[in-house]
Amino acid sequence: RVRLGVLVSGGGSNLQALLDACTREDFPAEVACVVSNVPTAHALERARAAGVPAVVVDHKAHASKAAFEAAILEALGAAGVQWVCLAGFMRLLSADFLGRFAGRVLNIHPSLLPSFPGLHAQRQALERGVKVAGCTVHFVDAGTDTGPIIGQAAVPVLPEDDEKSLSARILVEEHRLYPLAVRLAVTGQVTLDGVRTRVAAPPSTGELAL
Ligand code: GAR
Repeated sequence: RVRLGVLVSGGGSNLQALLDACTREDFPAEVACVVSNVPTAHALERARAAGVPAVVVDHKAHASKAAFEAAILEALGAAGVQWVCLAGFMRLLSADFLGRFAGRVLNIHPSLLPSFPGLHAQRQALERGVKVAGCTVHFVDAGTDTGPIIGQAAVPVLPEDDEKSLSARILVEEHRLYPLAVRLAVTGQVTLDGVRTRVAAPPSTGELAL
């Protein structure tokens, strides 16, 4: 099974969705290591509860971004990580870091990219008045939420929504989409094709756009 490293900063519900998927016998990956840049992140407890090594690499404890990333790379290397999943990881990774896992870093973002990249995507969606929101899993490139898209799921925006209610509705879809996208990526059923991806398994494609 492909060894995943999951980078987190917060609650870790997407990490949990991946951990749960990995308990299924037919899932092609396992979580080998979790790294949090936030020492108090609840995600760390989720990792430990699942028996997965969890490491804190606090950006504030490192003199430079290069030193911070070197420490993450060391933790991932020690765990034999082959693919990296960002799951609510709120730091931008350098091109140098990405080069070490070229084409093998995935991210989940709570908007229908390319709309609303960056912070507070759900708030941006509400402020813009869109009627459909959602989430995206994509390969990570050096830009902010710009990499080739693997899959998306949509949810309605309701008139009474606030940031909390919309985020919760999107999160349900995130938990479904991320394991699906990881499965396609690590098995080579979805591959990079310039700024896009090519999905080689037609039966799965319907599940990737709702
Ligand atoms: C998720 O909604 C994820 O899409 C988002 O943070 C949340 C983390 O929740 N990520 C970003 O905004 C990245 N820019 P979780 O810790 O419960 O998985």
